[in-house]
Amino acid sequence: MTDAGWQELRFSTTPDQLENLESWLFEQGALAVTLEDNADEPLLEPGPGETPLWQNIKLVALFEVGINLSPILASVPQQWVTASADAADFVPDQDWERAWMENFEPLKMGKRLWICPSWCEPPDPHAVNINLDPGLAFGTGTHPTTAMCLGELDATIQPGVNLIDYGCGSGILAIAGLKLGATKAFAVDNDPQAVTATWDNAQRNAITQDQLDVFLVSQADTQGRLQPADLVIANILAGPLEALAPTLIDLMNPGGRLILAGLLSEQAAALIEAYKPWVALSAVQELEGWTLLAGPKLSR
Ligand SMILES: C[S@@+](CC[C@H](N)C(=O)[O-])C[C@H]1O[C@@H](n2cnc3c(N)ncnc32)[C@H](O)[C@@H]1O
Repeated sequence: MTDAGWQELRFSTTPDQLENLESWLFEQGALAVTLEDNADEPLLEPGPGETPLWQNIKLVALFEVGINLSPILASVPQQWVTASADAADFVPDQDWERAWMENFEPLKMGKRLWICPSWCEPPDPHAVNINLDPGLAFGTGTHPTTAMCLGELDATIQPGVNLIDYGCGSGILAIAGLKLGATKAFAVDNDPQAVTATWDNAQRNAITQDQLDVFLVSQADTQGRLQPADLVIANILAGPLEALAPTLIDLMNPGGRLILAGLLSEQAAALIEAYKPWVALSAVQELEGWTLLAGPKLSR
């Protein structure tokens, strides 16, 4: 590293050639390699422990300024790249941590909620403020599906309800529900990282163990810890939401309300149909191609 900056080389490659290209670049003196989507291909939610890759990858390699990159560009094995490499660019050095932090600012959700990173003062100290930093678990409020769930909680939650956040990720929905007036929340996920993140985030927000019970879905199954609730909210993808219909319906109290997100707008009709015998779902919000469904449990 120099005080002045770095040189950057950019390559296009595919998942099967990535490892070869990466190792070779490190042998040539690359200090760091990062991967980006080269074709606007969304990577939908990975399962626990999975790290899916785009089919068309942009690989960016950083080198010290003194290194001559021309021989590297001339000798990169052509079978590992799908297009000729971009010319080297000079990248000014910067305070990376600060640059990263500046990408996350307080976000207003609904009428009362603010999601505030720990390094920012809450813009409105009298609002319902949730202290939450970006981490490995999904859910900072920047994704449209989370944003819609938060807006829906803010607009419709009844004081004193209990709720289940199924697929809790960072725990943002359970924490928001409690801060908006729920008295008890259960947060479950099938990823241990989400369970850890939810509990960390709950503690930062002064949520107590009496208010919030967080555990893995497998523990919910085996220990019967998950009891039916007045409000069940699940922001997962359409496929799991359909598969989970019997589970989520069983977890609703009579007269309870279900909120589903994580589905694309064109998937709404099929999900409404899948839940129709038990829950009267309707599309109540749409944002950037995603739809939020909500509705009451039907009495039978
Ligand atoms: C899109 S994230 C939502 C996180 C957070 N609730 C939010 O709204 O931002 C979906 C979460 O559901 C979890 N998940 C996916 N399938 C699941 C399943 N079948 N059972 C429980 N959790 C699941 C994932 O691990 C992930 O943390």
